[in-house]
Amino acid sequence: MATRYVMSIDQGTTSTRCIIFDRQGRLVSVTQREHRQHFPRPGWVEHDAVEIWRNLERIAPEALQQAGIGLEQITAIGIANQRETTLLWDRRTGVPLRRAIVWQDTRTNALVDELAARPESSMVQERCGLPLATYFSAPRIRWLLDDTPGLRERAERGEVLFGTMESWLIWNLTGGPDGGRHLTDVTNASRTLLMDLTTLEWDDQLLDFFGVPRAMLPQIRPSAETYGVASRIFPGVRIGAALGDQQAALFGQTCFAPGEAKCTYGTGSFLLLNTGNKPIRSSHGLLTTVGYQVSAEPAVYALEGPIAVTGALVQWFRDGLGLINSAPEIETLAKTVDDNGGCYIVPAFAGLFAPHWRSEARGMIVGLTSYITKGHLARAVLEATAWQTREVVDAMNADSRLDMRTLKVDGGMTADNLLMQCIADVLDVPVVRPMVAETVSLGAAYAAGLAVGYWPDLEGLRRNWHRAAQWLPAMEPERRAVEYDNWRRAVERTFGWMKP
Ligand code: G3P
Repeated sequence: MATRYVMSIDQGTTSTRCIIFDRQGRLVSVTQREHRQHFPRPGWVEHDAVEIWRNLERIAPEALQQAGIGLEQITAIGIANQRETTLLWDRRTGVPLRRAIVWQDTRTNALVDELAARPESSMVQERCGLPLATYFSAPRIRWLLDDTPGLRERAERGEVLFGTMESWLIWNLTGGPDGGRHLTDVTNASRTLLMDLTTLEWDDQLLDFFGVPRAMLPQIRPSAETYGVASRIFPGVRIGAALGDQQAALFGQTCFAPGEAKCTYGTGSFLLLNTGNKPIRSSHGLLTTVGYQVSAEPAVYALEGPIAVTGALVQWFRDGLGLINSAPEIETLAKTVDDNGGCYIVPAFAGLFAPHWRSEARGMIVGLTSYITKGHLARAVLEATAWQTREVVDAMNADSRLDMRTLKVDGGMTADNLLMQCIADVLDVPVVRPMVAETVSLGAAYAAGLAVGYWPDLEGLRRNWHRAAQWLPAMEPERRAVEYDNWRRAVERTFGWMKP
């Protein structure tokens, strides 16, 4: 019998990728296509969902060709996706009502302030584990319903559907207007502000609070189970999983036991800690979210610290300041000096996410003297990512009382050795990177493969995880304490910068 494989689709913020994996979790082929970022107004970020669907229609068959295999050799498809990005489409025609509003978009700022001022707003975090913030989907749905006359009535009649990107892709893959299935998975649903974290169902009080009609919402399903057949691209091939991309990375890093954590370093960075079968409510500025749910088994929860700007700061250093020509040059430049020279950069470009949740904060460079060179600035850029990680890890340890022993890392920025060493230094724990760096895609493939019996169990998946690199802490405790104090003082300066 011909060798069989699993395909994963990673619908990310900047591109859509298809990766084919073999039974050992090794990459067999990769195809990718970027989509356009639309910035119609300051703070607004949109994606064309049809462009994303067309990209997928193109790259999925290309992945098969590149691997030199036939459709019948794909056992299942797993989907990972950018989370919180909000789309409404017409159930009958399948046409999006307008462009998707991306997770980075802050147009709902005023609406969120207005909602937060209501006395009943305190129940939001209790029920869904998330603070009221522009980051999540529900205020965007409300904004869309308020913005277009007659839309709410149509949504109430079930003529207009809401979905995050996995929902849009599953609906299209399984038939679109001709019987497409309107589903989401628990991890994505847990990012809407509309799901009760313990029942894993849409919550009536939350729906009322945000003014979102139930009829427009997808059905919530476990992360790993058969969602249907991808008939519009791959007739006969089952979709076996969907997870938000950061939860997929947690799965791909095989963080299956409470206390295991991973951080994915990209444009932003997302640190997730497995906390087991009970949600831990954060009192230190973290999100309580669903990590994954395999078929009918109990859900596994996670604490998450999203950091809005990490790799984006390197991009700004390259494109905004023009101090380097390519992102990897930041490491070379930072190595021209021994330390940051007393300079700190807090990249609160659009406020700060975890653990501060300050939308009015704006970026700062502090400690400038005539001694500072671009080398010191480069170092401060890298250190900003390390210190932001430290703040999140401190919050996790305080909330979970599970002292993090090691941090598994992945994502583009992990190619930077100086940064990885810096993270190990400021966290004072070893930092490890696996052989397969594509953990988001791998996690979606693992979940799909489990759902259809391609992989037997979690232990089998654990055996596929192999360490490629490790960085051990090497900073003196006194220096760590002084620098952390400097960082915290710099962060405080950014608060309250934007006047309401
Ligand atoms: O919460 C947003 C996150 O899911 C986006 O991830 O990798 O698509 O930028 P990414």
